[in-house]
Amino acid sequence: MGRSSPAVAIEQVHKRFDQVRALNGIEFAIQPGEFFGLLGPNGAGKSTLINALAGLVLVDSGRLSVMGYDVRSQYREARQRLGVVPQELVYDPFFKVYETLRFQAGYFGLGREAEPWIEELLHELSLTDKAQANMRSLSGGMKRRVLIGQALVHKPPVVVLDEPTAGVDVELRRQLWSLVKRLHQDGHTIVLTTHYLEEAEELCDRIAIINHGKVVALDTKADLLARGISKTLHVHTREPAPNLPPALADKVKYVTDDYIELSFTLGSDEDSVMQVLDMLRDAGVKIIDIRVEQDDLEDVFVQLTREPN
Ligand SMILES: Nc1ncnc2c1ncn2[C@@H]1O[C@H](COP(=O)(O)OP(=O)(O)O)[C@@H](O)[C@H]1O
Ligand SMILES: [Mg+2]
Repeated sequence: MGRSSPAVAIEQVHKRFDQVRALNGIEFAIQPGEFFGLLGPNGAGKSTLINALAGLVLVDSGRLSVMGYDVRSQYREARQRLGVVPQELVYDPFFKVYETLRFQAGYFGLGREAEPWIEELLHELSLTDKAQANMRSLSGGMKRRVLIGQALVHKPPVVVLDEPTAGVDVELRRQLWSLVKRLHQDGHTIVLTTHYLEEAEELCDRIAIINHGKVVALDTKADLLARGISKTLHVHTREPAPNLPPALADKVKYVTDDYIELSFTLGSDEDSVMQVLDMLRDAGVKIIDIRVEQDDLEDVFVQLTREPN
């Protein structure tokens, strides 16, 4: 409850649905002001974890808190500090957009004083024209905007977005990115679940990757990227391809009028680039240029969540 509390703390959380261990000893903390990414393949347990944080799923064991308030024993305090944009488009079809937000504000004990902020949110989300439209008449993207408005209506310090851009067009995705960036700049703690890895790569400072209800990696984006198990070294040479030693001839990727490109897949150790360059020099290959391509987040993600077979 003090200022030093993490924004979100998850301690040894377990949750089973019959035979499925949806959460299997999840533990991590998110500090105030972080932009945190929660990644994992379908069925990894992301939504279950978020729903547990929002008090919608009761965990079997372990503890969750928001801004120092225990989700179970101090539910109101914890919920008040959390805004959740759910993955599913849940809404009351008989409500208008404005009513939906007004109702949500009421849930948090806010009355008329919430109205200027609701107007501002409608504007931010380009929903002003739709304020009096029925929820059921809106497109999926528009409904998604209302859900985001609902999550923000009580100005929670912690905002969790569960796959907010799934099935959303490019235009709205851009708009959401800039809105979320602005919330982060304004001091909100942001937790973003996404399977668009480029989105996590662009926005998140720290990333947890979960799989089968367990954290398989938790690191800064930079350190996760540095874990890339492989990188590719591309070497340009003018050597005519037929004259290359057989071991190198296999590595020819393409040939242009100007150069031949040789490509080498390397391990993550620091020396391997130099080893290849030494080998090329020993073979008498004249190097014009080199380029090293690191794994991106997508590659790292695939390596960490690949099923053993
Ligand atoms: N209400 C539920 N009843 C039964 N199984 C569930 C329920 N919710 C989630 N699961 C199962 O728990 C696992 C994790 O699901 P979920 O948290 O939705 O994953 P993610 O959001 O990462 O795709 C999946 O195997 C899913 O089928
Ligand atoms: Mg999910």
